[in-house]
Amino acid sequence: MFVPAVATLGLLGSACGTQELPQNALDPQGPVARQLDNLWDPVFLVAVVVFFLVQGLVLYCLFKFRAKSDEDAPVQVHGNAKLELGWTVAPAMILAFIGFFTVATVFDINRRAEGEEVVQVNVIGHQWWWEYDYTDEGIKTANELHIPAGEPVQIALNAEDVMHNFWPPKLAGKVYAIPGRTNYMQIEADVPGEYAGQCAEYCGLSHANMRLKVIAHERADYDRWVADQKRPAATPAASDANAVAGAGLFGGQCTRCHVIEGVQGGEIEQPAPNLTHLASRTCFAGCMFEMNDSNLRRWLRNPPAEKPMNPDNNQGMPNLGLTEEQITQLIAYLNTLK
Ligand code: CUA
Repeated sequence: MFVPAVATLGLLGSACGTQELPQNALDPQGPVARQLDNLWDPVFLVAVVVFFLVQGLVLYCLFKFRAKSDEDAPVQVHGNAKLELGWTVAPAMILAFIGFFTVATVFDINRRAEGEEVVQVNVIGHQWWWEYDYTDEGIKTANELHIPAGEPVQIALNAEDVMHNFWPPKLAGKVYAIPGRTNYMQIEADVPGEYAGQCAEYCGLSHANMRLKVIAHERADYDRWVADQKRPAATPAASDANAVAGAGLFGGQCTRCHVIEGVQGGEIEQPAPNLTHLASRTCFAGCMFEMNDSNLRRWLRNPPAEKPMNPDNNQGMPNLGLTEEQITQLIAYLNTLK
């Protein structure tokens, strides 16, 4: 029993090695995540002490009082008021102590950031991608959430279809995205950088592929990003025959579900990610794939083969049956959408 136990521990421990852990909740990079970590650390310490105390007592009793022969029965006793009071009162006090700090933290992290300059984003969970609607700026984007570093960002969470859960572990705890209900959360990153996250509530076929990225910028860079995103979609140069053909294809095939602001259908709510500035993003398809031509090509050949989806039920993108030439044209057009 000892050997497999040690082997299992070693295996578990190897997951916590020196490699980079992009979703390590114990490595907080912002005030909200730090508050949670400050709560977790002492609670874990208490749990470790209790664990070794209880397991130690169990082991001690196992060996000390085990029957050595049939006649060797221990002295039989019944009830011990002091002991029973002790093991009732001590855990109650420990729980009350932990509960006090837990409840205080729960209320505190529910604070809302207010003020003109506070960035507010509506985050909407879809099967299986994240929509970010910067209502004040008129920007809609997907999967990559851009924020200014060193400032609290106020998020309002909703879901389009089923329950999802927004979780960027280094910046904040998990908060549910629920259809027909708005939940709020605040996130903040200490310094600029990329922070990985994912959906943390099982939401169907591609739950595991519903990833996300928070990209925190210096304020000036964030303002530049906002200005770039507010620009209308690029129109391909007439000399770029592939991109021009791709734009035509997009209008025929893709606008049924995708929006490109300024291109036909731009004003309509559509079920799929807004692609106005697709080429400015670093990932696509629920941040499952890095944004590059070869990944886009594989994706456009047959999306449901790259990511488990259920397009017949309006969950995800169907196979459009495009030819290689059409795919080349579409990619040329998509690449203009900086
Ligand atoms: Cu969305 Cu799991």
